Amino acid sequence: MLDEVVELVRPLPDGTFLDATVGGGGHASAVLEANPGLRLFGLDRDPAALEAAARRLESHGDRVILRRARFDQTEQAMNELPPPGLAGFLFDLGVSSPQLDVADRGFSFRNDGPLDMRMDPDQPLSADDVVNRYDQRSLAELIRRHSDERNAPRIAAAIATARPIATTARLAEVVADAIPAPARRRGGHPARRTFQAIRIEVNDELRILGPALDRVLDALIPGGRGLVITYHSGEDRIAKHVFRRRTVSSTPPGLPVAVDEPEFAIVRPIARKPGASELAANPRASSARLRAIERRAA
Ligand SMILES: C[S@@+](CC[C@H](N)C(=O)[O-])C[C@H]1O[C@@H](n2cnc3c(N)ncnc32)[C@H](O)[C@@H]1O
Repeated sequence: MLDEVVELVRPLPDGTFLDATVGGGGHASAVLEANPGLRLFGLDRDPAALEAAARRLESHGDRVILRRARFDQTEQAMNELPPPGLAGFLFDLGVSSPQLDVADRGFSFRNDGPLDMRMDPDQPLSADDVVNRYDQRSLAELIRRHSDERNAPRIAAAIATARPIATTARLAEVVADAIPAPARRRGGHPARRTFQAIRIEVNDELRILGPALDRVLDALIPGGRGLVITYHSGEDRIAKHVFRRRTVSSTPPGLPVAVDEPEFAIVRPIARKPGASELAANPRASSARLRAIERRAA
């Protein structure tokens, strides 16, 4: 969704652009090229991503500051932004292609590796803990909650029986075998949803998203825009809810005069889905949704 992101941020006021999930710096680089008046503050919890971003963004020199942090840890940084403040932000959520492609990171059901899935390799909780130590009920609950997987109880029971499970390939096999044959033939790899659910649990992806969005919306200057790209219904629901709450007036219905106008407006009413050519180039984009919000001029 690079072109769409660039189009949405082209009219931004000057100031700082926060890329809360800078990854390899692809979006960040395009945003800087399109907006000479912006400097970039890029965050990632994965040190390998930050190294890649530093290489990619080197030519932008001191317009770029990169920091290793989780995106819900921005409070101090938002208070210390140089004037005129936060002109825009992007949260491009979820896992990156390099994280999926390196088998040793343990994110992928296609590349055999250890059960890891940590975006931040220094955090204690890994996929191994979730798969081999969570009780069966908690496993079933998190698989259902984080991926809408209908067969969550069967999958959790199969995992509990097969323990200890050491690798992603073995986990993928146990999950696939637990799914009834007709369901196995639908909707891509049978272990895709379960891997997504375990990854969300390991990285605590959903709990921190809403508060992080609220914090950066508070910091946005008039005319500034916030963009969120989500990859599954759980995170899209959170982004939609936060954006909706910030764009409705708190004036009770029926009052002749609005007591307060909402400070924000939705830029796109419906989350944009990727187009056919984009999907052909990058099948991982199939579930991507882009939402955008703007702080109204004062
Ligand atoms: C989809 S990739 C971003 C790709 C990036 N937009 C680009 O153009 O290369 C998501 C990145 O967000 C990072 N990430 C995910 N959750 C995070 C969080 N809570 N705090 C900081 N970084 C996070 C991941 O480590 C990953 O590098």
